[in-house]
Amino acid sequence: YLVSTRNMLNKAQLGGYAVPAFNIHNLETIQVVMETAAEMASPVILAGTPSTFSYAGSDYLIAICQQAAERYKVPVALHLDHHEDIPDIFQKVSAGVRSAMIDASHFPFEENIQIVKRVVDFCHQWDCTVEAELGRLGGQEDDLVVDAADALFTDPDAAVTFIQRTGIDSLAVAIGTAHGMYKNEPHLDFARLDAIRKKTDLPLVLHGASGIPDADVRHCIELGICKVNVATELKIAFSDAIKQYFIENPEATDPRHYLVPGKAAMKAVVMDKIRVCKSDGTL
Ligand code: 13P
Ligand code: ZN
Ligand code: NA
Repeated sequence: YLVSTRNMLNKAQLGGYAVPAFNIHNLETIQVVMETAAEMASPVILAGTPSTFSYAGSDYLIAICQQAAERYKVPVALHLDHHEDIPDIFQKVSAGVRSAMIDASHFPFEENIQIVKRVVDFCHQWDCTVEAELGRLGGQEDDLVVDAADALFTDPDAAVTFIQRTGIDSLAVAIGTAHGMYKNEPHLDFARLDAIRKKTDLPLVLHGASGIPDADVRHCIELGICKVNVATELKIAFSDAIKQYFIENPEATDPRHYLVPGKAAMKAVVMDKIRVCKSDGTL
């Protein structure tokens, strides 16, 4: 069965490390994340955007993740990443998911609160934890595209009000990261993160970790981040290795051959991120 992120994030916060949340898309990417996490004794969150669920099929995805928990005898959280549609969230939670992000960050503050609160009220009846975002990350995550001009940093005082009024379990902060890779070197607002951390002890989530230097991710963890979201770097490693395989083996047709180097390359990134998060050996 699938678990919420309550225990894993509380434990991470106490232990001064972060749980990595890896975006998965299919059986192979789930295999890579689960095998690596089990080998390194790391807790892990498997994250799926709405388009991942519709691509793979919610029923398939949930069943594979439940089976992964069974196979490795570890708690597995399948997390709804950047979900915006309330009935869709309710349906997936009813089907077994126990961790959800409701992203209403594009709405004005009051509306964001109202939407998030509805999701929290429902999800908590199912012991499903809820993450929400205040402020707005730039960049692109699947169908979610935000211009740099529309990106907004999280206001620490507003964060306190937001947390109190919504009852969320974790808060995604906007401190200068963006989805995808970076054209210019990102400058993170560590002082803002520190200010938010001083005002709340709720688990804080860093989105857009692909392309952020390890030292900066580590610094964020020292300042209280306890969930780190990684998507793009995994996709790049996976697809680059498969492209290379086809260059070297243009006649290849067997997915059991050409997907193998993709999985190996993705595994190296997963290992690296687990080390950056310092979550290895914490299970
Ligand atoms: P990256 O694609 O930059 O790693 O962002 C991932 C993310 O925030 C998923 O929610
Ligand atoms: Zn994100
Ligand atoms: Na990024």
